[in-house]
Amino acid sequence: MVTNIIHLRFLSVPENVGLARVAIAALAGQAAFSLNDIDEIKVAVSEAVSNAIIHGYQGRTDGWVELSGTLDAQQITIVVEDFGVGIHDVDQARQASYSTDPERMGLGFVFMESFMHGLTVQSTVGQGTRVEMQRFVTIQGELSRDAQ
Ligand SMILES: Nc1ncnc2c1ncn2[C@@H]1O[C@H](COP(=O)(O)OP(=O)(O)OP(=O)(O)O)[C@@H](O)[C@H]1O
Ligand SMILES: [Mg+2]
Repeated sequence: MVTNIIHLRFLSVPENVGLARVAIAALAGQAAFSLNDIDEIKVAVSEAVSNAIIHGYQGRTDGWVELSGTLDAQQITIVVEDFGVGIHDVDQARQASYSTDPERMGLGFVFMESFMHGLTVQSTVGQGTRVEMQRFVTIQGELSRDAQ
């Protein structure tokens, strides 16, 4: 299987969470991910894109969100980037139940972490946030022979 790459740039409009989910599901479907794997990848992407829109742009709908997906037979790597307010303390933000919004659960990063095999968050206050996550193709919970 050849490496495939997609790159989407969309405005921080809440409807685009669904667009991001569909795009990444269509890409992941080209490798040997199970339907359950793809559902989990979609949740992780939703959480990252929602964060960009809700927190990064604080409800503004004129900010750019960049989404990329890179796929080969062994893994998918997804990057979600915004150019919004940024995060003061990334380690604190990644803690379970931590949220700057009392109405929220503070579980977005926890979902991303538990559904993906790697999560890197880089952020600069006033410049934006970049979330990179990776998931390996597994067979019955084991890393596939190809990935080893
Ligand atoms: N792209 C972002 N830009 C700015 N701040 C962010 C961004 N992503 C996350 N944060 C900060 O990190 C905190 C934790 O994010 P997380 O997704 O875990 O929880 P939440 O979004 O607050 O709640 P939930 O995801 O459960 O609705 C957020 O409350 C917010 O302060
Ligand atoms: Mg969140």
